[in-house]
Amino acid sequence: MHSVILAIDEGTTNVKSLLLDKQGKVIGKGSVPLSISFPSAGLVEQDPLEIIEKMKVSIALAVDSLAQSEGTIAEDIEIAAVAISNQRESVVLWERSTGKPLTQVMSWQCRRSESLCETLRQDEAFSRYVQAATGLTLDPMFPATKVSLALQQIPDGHARAERGDICIGTINAWMVWNMTNNVFVTDASNAARTQLYHIGKQVWDETILERLGIAAAALPPVVPSSHIVGLTREFGVLPQGVPVASQIGDSHAALYGHGGYKSGVVKATYGTGSSVMAAMSKLPTIRNEISTTIAWDDSTTFYGLEGNITHTGSAIDWVRRVLGVENMNTMCQLAAQADSGHSVYFVPALSGLGAPYWDLDATGIFCGLKSATERADIARSAFESVLFQVADVFHLIAEELPEKIEYLCVDGGPTLNDWLMQAQADLLGVTIRRGEVAEVSAVGAGYLAGLAIGWWQGKDELAQLANQGHLFTPRLDKYDYWLNRYKEWALAVKKARLSC
Ligand code: G3P
Repeated sequence: MHSVILAIDEGTTNVKSLLLDKQGKVIGKGSVPLSISFPSAGLVEQDPLEIIEKMKVSIALAVDSLAQSEGTIAEDIEIAAVAISNQRESVVLWERSTGKPLTQVMSWQCRRSESLCETLRQDEAFSRYVQAATGLTLDPMFPATKVSLALQQIPDGHARAERGDICIGTINAWMVWNMTNNVFVTDASNAARTQLYHIGKQVWDETILERLGIAAAALPPVVPSSHIVGLTREFGVLPQGVPVASQIGDSHAALYGHGGYKSGVVKATYGTGSSVMAAMSKLPTIRNEISTTIAWDDSTTFYGLEGNITHTGSAIDWVRRVLGVENMNTMCQLAAQADSGHSVYFVPALSGLGAPYWDLDATGIFCGLKSATERADIARSAFESVLFQVADVFHLIAEELPEKIEYLCVDGGPTLNDWLMQAQADLLGVTIRRGEVAEVSAVGAGYLAGLAIGWWQGKDELAQLANQGHLFTPRLDKYDYWLNRYKEWALAVKKARLSC
């Protein structure tokens, strides 16, 4: 009999299920794509019922993959606990009595509450209050303003929310509700991303709720990220009676999976955009450039500092398309041919700039073009824009951390590029650690579930499970080269921020 933890990572584009053994090794996997719709300009939605059905399929695929690789049958696999890592900030409202969705999932990418945010931002005192209480600047990405609008659109919405007839939940809460006999809870990391939660006091914030017309009765109790919240009902191949033992936002889960519960660790996820994040045991200074959040609660609350960069992988891909390069491999080869002394800088402000600038008016620019500039130099500038943007956020986080940074732990597709990772180490002057497991968010959630059910006794034991991965050590002789280039990048960013 194989005893495993089932870790489900419910992302925007896929639901992934992983099976972890007691050594923390991934021994089974399943992944299913999810659809996403764009009903009109600025609106981005997903189907909450599809998410539940695809979860069941991905769990079945993971169980099947283990059964096949071990030449055993599904009945010989015992799922000891369920762990949840999820896309953050996406939100859905449903009816408490029936569990029927009252809205589609309003994605974190959905901008439907832009004008409400704009109005609220004009009230400077309220704006400042929201940032101090939640660690987040008013923005449609966060559920608060979208929920406020949804309650106005649901017939009798406010009164029903007051009566507790409506449940407001981020994706983890929706998953738990459906996997259990309708347990309605969320964890501290996901609550912190709603922009309705006071991260210092750790309560739903009455001032914000009142201003947005959201009844506290419609919100779930907040529990630790590592905590048995209930037992499963029969859910696809998942039998009833399995403890659901962790819930955590995906970026936070990745940091946990990288060992970010130890001091001196910062993580960077390189995807379409990038998230650079570190955890701290004390509430850090709330600052405009990066957001402050709750990283997790695994018996102690850890806070997180995070900078979300809007275009990294998508910046490389945009340049690839413009240059007419057929695929990413060829793009990497082209960039490798660039002269290291090339003078081109690309600032990928393709929809403004995210962290740490938060400048929606900035526009994308190439600068330093000369008659000697080749396609390879332009391709290289796209990769370098990723390095520089990560450095911009990394340095701000480093200023806030009390201890020296030992590692930047990385994950995501672009990190498979050795040149890029070595250059990132050289530019930052810090060792880069690239783990061996790509699905680090699911692994992080799995660790938290393992702590809750007593598989592992504490963080020292977890640290033994994590593989060291591949290290990229900074080369001192490259320091001046990158320092100069980084200074020029800063000038390029200034130019991108001048409106044309
Ligand atoms: O903050 C949004 C983030 O959690 C989405 O993650 O992996 O679905 O792109 P992902």
